Amino acid sequence: MNERSTRVRALAQEGAEATLADRRHLHANPELSFEEHETVAYVERRLTESGIPHRRVAGTGLIAEISGAAGPTIALRADMDALPIQEANEVAYRSRTDGVMHACGHDVHTASLLGAARILQQSRKQLRGTVRLLFQPGEEKLPGGATLMIRDGALVSPTPAAIFGQHVHPPLAAGSVGFRSGIYMASTDELYLTVRGRGGHGAMPHQSVDPIVITAQVITALQQLVSRETDPTLPVVLTFGRVESEGGATNVIPNAVHLEGTLRTLDEDWRKELHLRLRRTAEGIAAALGGTAELRIEHGYPFLKNDEALTLWARDRARELLGEERVVDLPIRMTGEDFAFYSHHLPACFYRLGVNGPPHGGSPVHTDTFDIDEACLETGSGLLAWLALQRLG
Ligand code: NI
Repeated sequence: MNERSTRVRALAQEGAEATLADRRHLHANPELSFEEHETVAYVERRLTESGIPHRRVAGTGLIAEISGAAGPTIALRADMDALPIQEANEVAYRSRTDGVMHACGHDVHTASLLGAARILQQSRKQLRGTVRLLFQPGEEKLPGGATLMIRDGALVSPTPAAIFGQHVHPPLAAGSVGFRSGIYMASTDELYLTVRGRGGHGAMPHQSVDPIVITAQVITALQQLVSRETDPTLPVVLTFGRVESEGGATNVIPNAVHLEGTLRTLDEDWRKELHLRLRRTAEGIAAALGGTAELRIEHGYPFLKNDEALTLWARDRARELLGEERVVDLPIRMTGEDFAFYSHHLPACFYRLGVNGPPHGGSPVHTDTFDIDEACLETGSGLLAWLALQRLG
């Protein structure tokens, strides 16, 4: 056991330069969701150089396999898309594409999986089974690249016994990782609500139906679905991040108000029930006040559940590779992640990779100053490979 972890650490260290080059190349050349053409071509080139067979799926996705002796299959997943953000970092590897940036660390995930692939290819003799590598497009955008990967056969012939994925985590120091067993991340639905009344002169409200006053009551009533109708032991988030009237002025009552929001839950049944109650409440309040409400819900990702046995197993393996003090337990998050789709098909473990450290780590994901302590790449590639080797050892 000990000897094997020493060997994986050594291989990760030897491969660190190549993984760093991969990360910097990907970071400098980011592509938006479902447009990862150059990115997937780069991944293809790198896998071919290592003699790892691969095939295109899901448009700009890719599946590769590394096989040893006969045995089960397990899957390792990385996402490859970037965000529509203008990078503010002044670094040699800064984004060369205006308005597009790897601000969620998917360059780190892809480079780490490439690094892990090279370690596993060098360790094939020890594998009793097959490691399937999933390089997926479009994590940041509905319907989620994971759904296309699954549609195109990522989880069949044979169905993997387990799947692992990782995500950068700025609060955690590079070299450390974090786990949460059980339910870990929230379902995410997008809400588009239109409240209609009848506009008119601001001085003669009795001749209008004011959609702004109706909207104020609708928002308050919808928040009561969270505070008064949801079991307080079930976390739910309802946020309206955009409220905009259709025209209107200090002295003009507009005809309509448009709202955009997000609904997050950790329970599929309650998620469905809230969809019904959101609509019923908005329509009912608006009707009572003489207006109308129309709610469109765009179904996003389900909640993400980490298989308890698999996650505790992975946490123990991480302690072997990285040391007791570098493995922490994490709380539930109400953010979403399309890895959740995999987690509803097979035992899954999604863990966090620490990236904090000088000179660049620390900025939150989805900000224009996000960056990492690149020492995390050795941990990211080494741990993925170690989990696969131990699972198929
Ligand atoms: Ni992400």
